[in-house]
Amino acid sequence: MTTAVTGATGQFGGLVVDGLIARGVGASDIVAIVRDEVKAKSLSDRGVQVRVADYGDVDALRSALAGVDKLLLVSGSDVGQRVAQHTNVIDAAEATGVSLIAYTSVLKADTSGVSLAVEHVATEERLAASSIPSVLLRNGWYWENYQASLQQAIDTGVLLGAAADGKLAAASRADFAAAAVQVLLSEGHEGQIYELGGDERLTYTELAAVIAQVSGKPVVSKDVSEDEYRSILEGAGLPDFVAEMLASADAGIARGDLDTDSGDLQKLIGRASTPVAEILG
Ligand SMILES: NC(=O)c1ccc[n+]([C@@H]2O[C@H](COP(=O)([O-])OP(=O)(O)OC[C@H]3O[C@@H](n4cnc5c(N)ncnc54)[C@H](OP(=O)(O)O)[C@@H]3O)[C@@H](O)[C@H]2O)c1
Repeated sequence: MTTAVTGATGQFGGLVVDGLIARGVGASDIVAIVRDEVKAKSLSDRGVQVRVADYGDVDALRSALAGVDKLLLVSGSDVGQRVAQHTNVIDAAEATGVSLIAYTSVLKADTSGVSLAVEHVATEERLAASSIPSVLLRNGWYWENYQASLQQAIDTGVLLGAAADGKLAAASRADFAAAAVQVLLSEGHEGQIYELGGDERLTYTELAAVIAQVSGKPVVSKDVSEDEYRSILEGAGLPDFVAEMLASADAGIARGDLDTDSGDLQKLIGRASTPVAEILG
């Protein structure tokens, strides 16, 4: 059984490769699909089969997927290009006879109003039309997303956002990766849609309290409108598309788009999710 992981030099893909090896998969039975071979040196040093293929390169993707049974397609990071890129991977998987594709989508993709859901929905539709059975890992928000603004929140005493009193069922990247590993290493997941979120479902008021607790400094949340938040992020130097994505995500949190009590993550990983205080502490 050969298992391939795309984005294997990325944070999520790397955790999945580590998890497969930790669960006893032989490194030579893992194919790491990467776009930068130099970045993949630690993988090849450990005996993982490293194959180079950009999501834009159909021929390279076909070569990279030769002999692969199960494929984890980790969604790319080129916002706006991802539907075409993911389609290339799925086309190549069909051509090479892959037996299962697991895809990292976003929580509640089909009903979510967050801007980044659009490309995930289109990828899910392409998977549904594919001849290959698939499983949707609809990952919620990573708690690690708050590491970027953590220091500023501690320094200013304010966690700024536009999520109103919406609940956020985020989890650590490692917990979502562990769920992906479980899906790759067990049977019966074809056609499943997993809505993955952590045990702690926090408002920004509660998240600010966690940051205050772990930092020992007073931190409170301050809510602004989606438009105001986008302008503040742009003013702080974030690229427009990132500011738009983050503001849209906060508006989604306000609506409950990034909240779930499905229990799917906990069932797959066989334990409670890692506490946010551990991740941000
Ligand atoms: N749930 C969340 O909160 C959340 C947050 C951020 C992102 N995401 C999504 O989840 C994915 C995995 O997260 P992550 O933390 O692992 O992100 P990451 O560290 O940025 O990893 C993204 C991976 O995709 C690879 N990639 C990007 N464009 C590619 C292309 N054109 N061809 C081949 N490979 C390409 C990157 O390759 P390189 O290593 O060469 O850069 C990298 O390995 C992200 O890409 C994004 O779609 C989810």
